Amino acid sequence: AGLHAVAKTAGKLYFGTATDNPELTDTPYVAILDDNMMFGQITAANSMKWDATEPEQGVFTFDQGDVIRNLAQGNGQLLRGHNCVWHEQLPDWVAFGTFTSDELISIVENHCGTLVGHYTGQMYAWDVINEAFNDDGTFQQDIFFNTTGTAYIPAALNAARATDPNAKLYINEFNIEFAGPKATALQNLIKELQSEGVPIDGVGFQSHFIVGEVPTDLVANFQTFVDLDVEFAITELDVRMTLPETDALLAQQKKDYETVINACVAFPECVGVTVWDFTDTFSWVPGAFPGQGAACPWDDNLVRKPAFDGIVTGFQSA
Ligand code: G3I
Repeated sequence: AGLHAVAKTAGKLYFGTATDNPELTDTPYVAILDDNMMFGQITAANSMKWDATEPEQGVFTFDQGDVIRNLAQGNGQLLRGHNCVWHEQLPDWVAFGTFTSDELISIVENHCGTLVGHYTGQMYAWDVINEAFNDDGTFQQDIFFNTTGTAYIPAALNAARATDPNAKLYINEFNIEFAGPKATALQNLIKELQSEGVPIDGVGFQSHFIVGEVPTDLVANFQTFVDLDVEFAITELDVRMTLPETDALLAQQKKDYETVINACVAFPECVGVTVWDFTDTFSWVPGAFPGQGAACPWDDNLVRKPAFDGIVTGFQSA
């Protein structure tokens, strides 16, 4: 069974994966990526980010993003846009710029409006705001917050809504999958945006987990977000381990994937699940956490791991 096929049977909109332009020369990889019963949704891992799409002020380059868009459209796969505003992967003119609050707000509005507008009608959802918080619930001390306070957030959301009224607008975060100051801070932000009439449709739970450490309050925590009247998605799922991989670790990883899928299945508001690439070959984990890896459902040889069956079983429990 394909993962998207079993997700649809469980009532979800999609099961999807992130991918990146350099990976598209790998023919056996692309054969799996192109299977729309396996993946019903695609996220560009890098090529729609700010550094890729507006490298110089007012100069927009959508070539790489369009390659991913064309691939998904050709396969009949949904798209999630990733992302409008994030403190990483910024071009230097933004990262090291000196702006007044008003200047940066209009830069954010122009970037989000132009980016989202380029793909109008083609995106299921956009991660408009990515990783705005620290784990302690304070805001990231990034160029956006340091210059505008929180004003850049409604500015980005309103600009996105104005150029694509039908795309679902998300805030995407990690370490909000369990109760704590970061989840609470995001909930407070959502309430504030809602009370001000700012569009906010969904929460993206990145879900970069560690084998054996899927939060035990995952379902309870999802409920606290659903209570705010937003939909949600699992947007960047992977489950990493300390290498080398062993049968015991792979068996636990299978359980962990199943647990996460079960938690999505438990909520009609959980629209779908995206893995942050599907093969260990292209996982971001070893680059970011030396000594860790094997986080994906397919191994380095594009062979399905026990985790694959965990995903299937998770959806079939619906
Ligand atoms: O583009 C340059 C290339 O010119 C250069 O030769 C090469 C050498 O290192 O680096 C290339 O840039 C890399 C870029 O990916 C594109 O491949 C960066 O070094 C590398 O750091 C960057 O990593 C990306 C990372 O975001 C940046 O923080 C990962 O591929 C991407 O998977 C990852 O995705 C993020 C989500 O956007 C947000 N949530 C967390 C997730 C994992 O970090």
